[in-house]
Amino acid sequence: MNPSVSLLLRHRRPRLHRLPDRWMLPLLVVVLCVAGLGQAPQASASEPRLVTIGGAVTETVFALGAGDQVVAVDTSSTYPEAAVQRPKVGYARTLAAEGILAMRPDRVLASAHAGPDAVFTQLAAAGVAVTRLDDPRSPEQAQRMIAQVADVLGRPEAGASLNRRLQQQLDGLGPTTFPEERGIVVMGGQGGQLLVAGQSTAADAMLQLVGLPNAAAALPGYRPVGDEGLLTLRPTVVVVPDHALPALGGLDGLRHRPALAGLTPARFVVMESLLLLGMGPRLGEAVQNLAAAVATAQR
Ligand code: HEM
Repeated sequence: MNPSVSLLLRHRRPRLHRLPDRWMLPLLVVVLCVAGLGQAPQASASEPRLVTIGGAVTETVFALGAGDQVVAVDTSSTYPEAAVQRPKVGYARTLAAEGILAMRPDRVLASAHAGPDAVFTQLAAAGVAVTRLDDPRSPEQAQRMIAQVADVLGRPEAGASLNRRLQQQLDGLGPTTFPEERGIVVMGGQGGQLLVAGQSTAADAMLQLVGLPNAAAALPGYRPVGDEGLLTLRPTVVVVPDHALPALGGLDGLRHRPALAGLTPARFVVMESLLLLGMGPRLGEAVQNLAAAVATAQR
């Protein structure tokens, strides 16, 4: 060994030994805390640590004032900004139990569309309290979901007040209707087909709320549709959640698909995914934005 290095080592060792024993435990605690916390909040020891899965559920927990308890979220939790800063446990539909357990949650609150279901069985078996929330398909169901989350968190009054605010926003919206138009919502694309929202989806519910007839209403759930199918649907308005754009080759890629390019020029509306599909506390804003975007979209 280089003599100067060995000299340095010899000098360093006694220094560590000189640290008083009574400092070692507090020092260890500080080091472990700094290493483990990441961007998780300093959840109070007396309050349950929450992992929230599904953007609308996350948004609701934060809107109820319980954001400090949230130690991790899924990647569809894109609002509010404080939620975006939390550690991530993957996308709601492709979860793994290990990543969630690593966050040491006391409770996991998850949308019904989250999965696979086996993950929640594993979490429950590991002693984590699991609450699943139905995916809202109407303002009434959105308010029921908010009330359920509020009850689980022991904040029923905050839930009632959030629901009152939501109701006021919805009441303030004038009715809109686009009887001449035929809308579709495109969730993604693969192998020359587009994933289009049919009946019983959040996307379909949103089209109904703004009075835009869903050209794909006869399809059950989300279904892949090829060029021939698109020509049958003849959409005049194509709505896209923004997370889906890259897989579609951007708006230009979508606009120039043979089936859509051949139609009477369709209009395109791109909207923030969680606002469009979440049907959570911002439902009033979502309906207002979608209606305005449909009314003003360019051909
Ligand atoms: C900001 C990101 C995202 C948000 C807020 C979001 C939100 C949602 C919501 C709320 C639904 C359920 C809609 C319903 O109940 O009708 C959904 C469905 C879906 N999402 Fe996402 N998502 C996001 C990202 C992604 C990504 C990155 C992918 C693809 C890798 C994806 C693929 C899908 C698919 C395929 C469905 C429909 C599945 C089915 O029921 O057949 N999402 N998304």
